[in-house]
Amino acid sequence: LGHPLENAKRAAAYRAVDENLDVYKHRVIGIGSGSTVVYVAQRIGQYLKDDEYRDYVSKFTCVATGYQSKQLIIENGLSYGIIEQYPYVDIAFDGADEIDPNLNLIKGGGACLFQEKLVSTSTKLFIVVADTSKKSYTKLGSRWTQGVPVEVVPVAFARVQHDLLKLLNARTVTLRQGGKSKMGPVVTDNMNFILDACFGDIDDPGTLHQKIKSLVGVVETGLFVDNAYKCYLGDSDGEVHTIV
Ligand code: A5P
Repeated sequence: LGHPLENAKRAAAYRAVDENLDVYKHRVIGIGSGSTVVYVAQRIGQYLKDDEYRDYVSKFTCVATGYQSKQLIIENGLSYGIIEQYPYVDIAFDGADEIDPNLNLIKGGGACLFQEKLVSTSTKLFIVVADTSKKSYTKLGSRWTQGVPVEVVPVAFARVQHDLLKLLNARTVTLRQGGKSKMGPVVTDNMNFILDACFGDIDDPGTLHQKIKSLVGVVETGLFVDNAYKCYLGDSDGEVHTIV
């Protein structure tokens, strides 16, 4: 039945859609970024082939959190709409890099955090989908050792890097690099850079978010606090459990 990790992601995504998407009431749907929401878009696409749901789902408008997300919407036969026209979203699904027991998240492993935050704070219902490996051991920062992704205006990256180290006591701060397929810094969908700032275990994600956000040059942080409604975690056997 495929790769165990893919089974876990698919199970979580399908369950999250089946339990939360109200085809009769919801109209504007937010589709996040990453490898787990691929299965969210796939599942909603399958509803289009269902006689009972087709007429409703074909009237959905899906807003994206970046180019990957836009492609997912289009490839699955769903209607794409821009957030400028649909600033109020009924339900949004997204992945996460780490999830704590209070449903605070670290996101931005895929560099899409700004539009993810825009959509997740514009929706009435924000649903998180992931495999069980994303659960924090204890506090946020215990598992996602890459640190907190921080989107910065390019010209300010050195200043923010310095401020994160000196003012906010980050242990390390690295400018994210593209790797083999793109030499030089990663450029986000909003034409900015990403700094990955490691703080170790995070005691108070809300306060840390506010402090980072107040630095000149910071566009957004990958700390998503007090916003998710429910999280679906899948394991390789296809079992799904939730954090509410
Ligand atoms: C994108 O910037 C991220 O926030 C993703 O949502 C996150 O990295 C989860 O991705 P996966 O579903 O691929 O783990």
